[in-house]
Amino acid sequence: MPQSDLRELFVDELKDLYSAEKQLVKALPKMAKAASSEELKEAFAEHLEQTKGHVQRLEEIFQALEESPRGKKCAGMEGLIKEGEEAIQEDYEGAVKDAALIGAAQRVEHYEIAAYGTAKALAEVIGESDHASTLAETLEEEKETDEKLTSISEQVNEEANTEPEEEEGEEEKPKSRSKASSGRR
Ligand SMILES: [Fe+2]
Repeated sequence: MPQSDLRELFVDELKDLYSAEKQLVKALPKMAKAASSEELKEAFAEHLEQTKGHVQRLEEIFQALEESPRGKKCAGMEGLIKEGEEAIQEDYEGAVKDAALIGAAQRVEHYEIAAYGTAKALAEVIGESDHASTLAETLEEEKETDEKLTSISEQVNEEANTEPEEEEGEEEKPKSRSKASSGRR
């Protein structure tokens, strides 16, 4: 395959990422608003700022490549955000809703991790090492966000699993076997 084709693929991948990040900038405030846990709200707000930085980094790469960032709509991110909106609209409340939001957000992060991994590898192979390291920086931040969400989810899931059942006063009925068998702190 001639290298010009690979360069074209690289630019296409970047356009897809640019569209993905722009869509995420619009979606994250809604996720933050729907979250109950302060820690989760903060994590979404922090990732919003990071995501704006990711958009900026991509713009810098496009500028250096003398290419336009426009022209693609990332259908993958569109679908993931739609699922996130479903999580927002579901009737779940409190920590259970937070668990649903985290599930949606981690799908987004995994998608971005895959896409940045691909773009970084393409940059390396066509000899764009500066762009490869810029993409690696963003990739690292996506991974850190994913890990942070995992750590928040541990607390949120625990809370969701112990939230009192408001209807029918079924207090003594354990919600899960694991709760009944694991010693409470
Ligand atoms: Fe990002």
